[in-house]
Amino acid sequence: MDPRLERTLIDRDDIADRVGQLAEAIMTDLAPVADAGQLVVVPVLTGSLLFVADLVRHLPLPFPIRPVGVSAYPGKTTRSESAVLQGPLPEGIAGKTVLLVDDILDSGRTLHLLQQELRDVGVADVRTCVLLRKEVHRAADPTCEYIGFDVPDVFVVGYGLDWDGLFRNLPDIAVIRPQ
Ligand code: IMP
Ligand code: MG
Repeated sequence: MDPRLERTLIDRDDIADRVGQLAEAIMTDLAPVADAGQLVVVPVLTGSLLFVADLVRHLPLPFPIRPVGVSAYPGKTTRSESAVLQGPLPEGIAGKTVLLVDDILDSGRTLHLLQQELRDVGVADVRTCVLLRKEVHRAADPTCEYIGFDVPDVFVVGYGLDWDGLFRNLPDIAVIRPQ
């Protein structure tokens, strides 16, 4: 294991099992919406890249995938301070049901901002799916219908999550060694 990492928190097999379960729940709730041509999947870049790629392969439904960019804390920081939209929201989502997909719910600012922006452009409904939810006091408390794992308040990397741009390609989720 890379010396900057302390331990594996969730291994690839457990991630795969849980992603399948999340997809089942999403199928139950949103298959009729998708079949009616009303679902848009909106992954939050870049952290949700691996998660959404696996998740949508379990969703045999018709929907477009339209990513959105939000920056929380560039560089080597491990505390998010604010969430800023990077670029425009996807077009053509007014009146649709949006399934927001993000890697982790931490302070809540990212998903709170996005839920508000999506409502402002007139989406019919927003559902939110995160792989991880940190056990912290949240500055903002966005609604979240689909949650993979609750994790302690430690900085995690892998399976899309980065530290200073690195470790996204790690197949497991690991805890970074305190700096
Ligand atoms: P927020 O604090 O809920 O707005 O989360 C902001 C973003 O910070 C998430 O979408 C992740 O991309 C990133 N983030 C939060 N906690 C971690 C972590 O432990 N490791 C890597 N990225 C994280
Ligand atoms: Mg993110």
